Amino acid sequence: MAEKLLEIKNLKQYFNQGKPNEVRAVDDISFDIYKGETLGLVGESGCGKSTTGRTIIRLYDATDGQVIYDGINVHDKKSKNDLKTFNRKMQMIFQDPYASLNPRMKVLDIIAEGLDIHGLVKNSKERKERVVELLETVGLNREHADRYAHEFSGGQRQRLGIARALAVNPEFIIADEPISALDVSIQAQVVNLLKELQEEKGLTYLFIAHDLSMVKYISDRIGVMYFGKLVELAPAEDLYNNPMHPYTQSLLSAIPLPDPNYERTRVRKSYDPASHNYQDGEEIAMREVTPGHFVYCSEKEFATLQAISN
Ligand SMILES: Nc1ncnc2c1ncn2[C@@H]1O[C@H](COP(=O)(O)OP(=O)(O)O)[C@@H](O)[C@H]1O
Ligand SMILES: [Mg+2]
Repeated sequence: MAEKLLEIKNLKQYFNQGKPNEVRAVDDISFDIYKGETLGLVGESGCGKSTTGRTIIRLYDATDGQVIYDGINVHDKKSKNDLKTFNRKMQMIFQDPYASLNPRMKVLDIIAEGLDIHGLVKNSKERKERVVELLETVGLNREHADRYAHEFSGGQRQRLGIARALAVNPEFIIADEPISALDVSIQAQVVNLLKELQEEKGLTYLFIAHDLSMVKYISDRIGVMYFGKLVELAPAEDLYNNPMHPYTQSLLSAIPLPDPNYERTRVRKSYDPASHNYQDGEEIAMREVTPGHFVYCSEKEFATLQAISN
């Protein structure tokens, strides 16, 4: 059995709580992330993926719930030292490599930022050598250290973002749509780099994406979000071959197929939340239909899904 690195328990993130403009961006979600795995998190824009990532990494205080990292709740009040340790262990790679790298800073200083904060190098020579090593790790080189971020292409900037995250030797990386802003031709390169780094360094990833086409190649398991709720969680293959929640089915039906014959007959399914027809007082919860395959459903839906699965 794989070891848990993170346990997310009943996590909530409400913006403008109690006000007319309250947004329940993350609304009571629970899941585990295992050491060394990639957990994909998908769902349409605005469903709460980034907020989930940002709350896990403590960019936001949780409205409610727990994020337990290696047995410790990261949202508990902690000493400065503990916080610093968490900040080092958990890193984030952002969607927009243009916005997330300061264009007026030299690559050397962008990548060394974490090294400086955490006192990981003794002098400027060691600092430079460590940065060069990181540049080489992500497929760039020594010459790049003295350039400015604005001199790089989108794909190269994302490599810089990855190098910056790796600088502090993290264990866990949240990649928030790291390839969405990149040309399709570059996307696979960045995904492959992330995969290689994971194998080399035993990293654990939460990989956020807005559709299901790329996550399949990188994820061991995939969680599907819809309006702040996690509606399905399953091993990647299982989710693709046997999607159980109607929202997941609609997401999958939206992926174009490479085969033109199939493509002609592809039927796009739409999802209507009203179709569940839940009655007052019904308990809707994540239920394990087959081993490791969880669906957000009622008792009745659960019984039906189980009957179909057997
Ligand atoms: N800082 C914030 N203040 C208020 N509302 C926010 C904030 N950040 C996100 N939201 C809202 O929370 C919801 C989820 O947003 P987000 O997590 O960015 O979704 P996703 O990453 O899936 O596109 C959206 O309705 C968004 O408008
Ligand atoms: Mg987002």
